[in-house]
Amino acid sequence: MLISVIGAGYLGATHAACLAADGHQVVGIDIDTHRVERLSSGQAPFHEPGLDELIAGSVESGTLVFDTDVRRAAEAEVHFLCVGTPQRAGSHAADLSALDDAVGSLAALLRRPCLVVGKSTVPVGTARTLGARLRERAPAGREVEVAWNPEFLREGHAVQDSLHPDRLVFGVGSDEADQVLRDVYARAINEGTPVVRTDLETAELAKVSANIMLASRISLVNLLAEVCEAAQADVGDLTRILGLDDRIGARFLRPGVGFGGGCLAKDTRAFVARAEELGLGGPASVLREVDAINMRQRSRTVDRAVALLGGRAAGRRVAVLGAAFKAGSDDVRDSPALDVAATLHARGAEVHVYDAEAAMNVRRVHPQLHVEASVDDACRGAEVVLVLTEWEEFRGIDPVALAGVVASPRVVDGRLVLDPDKWRASGWDFQALGRGTA
Ligand code: UDX
Repeated sequence: MLISVIGAGYLGATHAACLAADGHQVVGIDIDTHRVERLSSGQAPFHEPGLDELIAGSVESGTLVFDTDVRRAAEAEVHFLCVGTPQRAGSHAADLSALDDAVGSLAALLRRPCLVVGKSTVPVGTARTLGARLRERAPAGREVEVAWNPEFLREGHAVQDSLHPDRLVFGVGSDEADQVLRDVYARAINEGTPVVRTDLETAELAKVSANIMLASRISLVNLLAEVCEAAQADVGDLTRILGLDDRIGARFLRPGVGFGGGCLAKDTRAFVARAEELGLGGPASVLREVDAINMRQRSRTVDRAVALLGGRAAGRRVAVLGAAFKAGSDDVRDSPALDVAATLHARGAEVHVYDAEAAMNVRRVHPQLHVEASVDDACRGAEVVLVLTEWEEFRGIDPVALAGVVASPRVVDGRLVLDPDKWRASGWDFQALGRGTA
């Protein structure tokens, strides 16, 4: 099929590459010239395992092209909307301006029957409004149909999640639209991926609902962590016990400095904003607590570090290990690790950060921080070390050797990746969120 993908960020670039790998002819559109140039040369604009190879292969064979000019998309049978819907400045609601712009410029080009499929995360009710606008403005009028097909990919697993999703959600208003999506995803469906056919509104809600469930789990486990600390219990053992309960399951039970990235927080906030519009602000307030607990993890981590420094951060040397919002990604958007690092810097500390993947992004976003090339470089002369992203590399740190590098052996494990007994036995003043201090 001839398919266009509007928006070539995490979602769009990955989706376009995976559609091309499935044998479709794909044109990816983005307004960012630099990004389009990079993609056209066969490179992903961000770190994502397997994506460079996928893009390069299809760009080379000509089945995947990128352009800044949306007119290139005019002939496609299916158009996927993959633009970002970030948090609106000064509000918790989603900013739909990129989506509005994309739909506005696409509408005038639609002269033949086609299906416009939203993948962006939007407040419930958006799809129906967009559909009406498109049909009103497109020369093809009622021959343009809108469907919603949310995407659940995780950064760091984007290619795998897109090629082999847990489920496909088709929010459609007709059998024809359902069939088009079945044709687009024929390979994954033949592989056994379950398809849930539903209405537009349920499909829109599916994505944000999955994210608020995940966010709530993490905040609940972080609440348990704080109680564990106060009661001298151990949240590591506690989550292991909970995870062995089949009904609860072990995933998304990792306590620590909390969730960040491009989705969980902004989707939680946007959901609350939309619930308020629907007159459900009261019941949705549970999610305000989810957000507040999450942000509190960051301030608690800063407080821990400052307490270990005797109550004063100014002029003290601090090592921060990890800057990405999670392991397996170079993304620092709303990263708890970087937020903690920047706050300590703002309090006068001299902050040295190490992250093997995210270094470039740290320099771009927080040029005031010292970015180092290794764990040892970041920790040299440090009076406290903070481990804030769950990179595998940090699990393997030898506490005895590192004690010889720092000025004072004090560590805060913000991701529960270090073995407290081993570190304490090596002479470290060891603290972890959710673990008693004994
Ligand atoms: C998330 C959703 O998982 C994905 O389905 C959606 O499409 C986009 O948002 P992503 O942002 O890539 O994906 O990251 P995810 O793996 O969900 O982690 C989010 C944050 O939660 C990270 O900061 C991570 O470190 C944190 N996290 C995750 C925890 O603190 N504890 C956990 O147990 C799991």
